[in-house]
Amino acid sequence: MKFKTTHYHFDLLKDIERLSAFSKAIEEYTGNKELAFDLGCGSGVLSYFLSFYFDEIVSLEIDFKAYECAKNNLNSFKNIDVVNIDVLDFDFNKKADLIVCEMLDTALIDEEEIPILNYAKNFLKPGGEIIPQGIINAAELVNMQRNYVHWDENAIYEVYSPQVIYSQFNFKDEINPECEYDLSFKSNKEGIINGLKITTFTKLNDNLIAGPTPMLNPPLLIPLDEKKVKNNDFINVKLKYIMGNGIESIDIDYI
Ligand SMILES: C[S@@+](CC[C@H](N)C(=O)[O-])C[C@H]1O[C@@H](n2cnc3c(N)ncnc32)[C@H](O)[C@@H]1O
Repeated sequence: MKFKTTHYHFDLLKDIERLSAFSKAIEEYTGNKELAFDLGCGSGVLSYFLSFYFDEIVSLEIDFKAYECAKNNLNSFKNIDVVNIDVLDFDFNKKADLIVCEMLDTALIDEEEIPILNYAKNFLKPGGEIIPQGIINAAELVNMQRNYVHWDENAIYEVYSPQVIYSQFNFKDEINPECEYDLSFKSNKEGIINGLKITTFTKLNDNLIAGPTPMLNPPLLIPLDEKKVKNNDFINVKLKYIMGNGIESIDIDYI
């Protein structure tokens, strides 16, 4: 199957690790298979995977160019309906067995996953499932080269502490996007720290967790003031952000 799509969605398509994680989670889904929603369907590739299992798929996409591509890509599939709309404006008149919503970005800081799911899960049948099921966030202290928030692609940094898991979300729960954490680290070498690295793991289902891939939750590096540390020092950091409000919402400091 050939997919035509925007540059951004094409980069998503080329990320084989991301695609196989979602494809496996859809294949492993064992619930009822009458209706699935694909929220933010992009190129339509996840709707295509769903089409082999579900009687009906409703695929929503806000971006007109991506929508046009998905509509063309999927026009021979009679069980898929592609709609160009903001999920928050869609009139869900039926409940689904499965919601696929892949609006993921590291720690969900820069994506709309939470407001979308907080709304859309009202239209999930009792016992229905969401893919992905949730996320797990972890952080570690680093010495990084750049003095601004950036994703770790081509970034140079050195890790100064073990990774600490600081939050987990199950997308079936009602989620408050305002996040505030007091994080405690123990440095594992002497030197200078000046940043925090956040890594998000995607829980696709009970048995499948995907680490970051080039297009799925690439780790985020956040600057902190420089601090000299020795091996085994304790360093406490307060981290705040609002999921969905972008990297500008990040507020970080030592405690
Ligand atoms: C990370 S992409 C995933 C795309 C798709 N799963 C794929 O593989 O091509 C998220 C998609 O959600 C769409 N999106 C973001 N907010 C939306 C909203 N409020 N309603 C509908 N679509 C939305 C974006 O335009 C984007 O195409």
